[in-house]
Amino acid sequence: MATQLPPVRLGVLISGTGSNLQAIIDAIAQGRLQAEIRLVISNRPLAPGLRRAQEAGLRTLVIDHRGFASRQEFDRRLREALEEAAVELVILAGFMRLLSPVMLEGFPDRIMNIHPALLPAFPGLNVQRAAIEHGARFSGCTVFFVREGIDDGPIIVQAVVPVYPDDSEADLARRIQLQEHRIYPQAIALYQQRRLHISGRRVLIKDWDTSNASAALINPEPD
Ligand code: GRF
Repeated sequence: MATQLPPVRLGVLISGTGSNLQAIIDAIAQGRLQAEIRLVISNRPLAPGLRRAQEAGLRTLVIDHRGFASRQEFDRRLREALEEAAVELVILAGFMRLLSPVMLEGFPDRIMNIHPALLPAFPGLNVQRAAIEHGARFSGCTVFFVREGIDDGPIIVQAVVPVYPDDSEADLARRIQLQEHRIYPQAIALYQQRRLHISGRRVLIKDWDTSNASAALINPEPD
């Protein structure tokens, strides 16, 4: 057994439902993830995710972006709160604000985000509809390190789901979210285990099991 590494100190940023926050809370409670959520910050005072955090006994803070004259000022306040809480890794979990260099420089390659598509396909918003309208046979989700471009940082983990002909946006979103809840805690655990090494725009993973070399998904399945 390798020497025990310390739990990673997380700051989770939300704007809405917080189902990914919940998945992380559950993974910690079940011992699948060695982490401590030091602080949950919402930019929206009524975000339902705040309740989840409070029910789990976590410290919460509302920093309403509407109270700030610029993105930089808002980010300065965020950074200050995260640094005060000794946060090591920032987790964006449905946080609907773009980050400025103030945050990116405060936490270089230490901010993770999750996106409900297989990047680099379909960055931005309304991506389930985009995948359906494009006729993609697969979509999925991507956990990545946040850098300057939108949904453009080094990829850590991806999960793939099929897109079916009768799918509504909501159907596809649900199918993708189930996988988000698996791969976000997984990506954070890889970080905590110090298995992620960034090389340019690639993330290399220590002890990556590549034995399933013939793994392939085909949709529709061949007859
Ligand atoms: C997720 O679909 C995630 O991919 C996107 O925002 C959504 C957040 O959902 N970035 P929740 O608030 O975690 O339920």
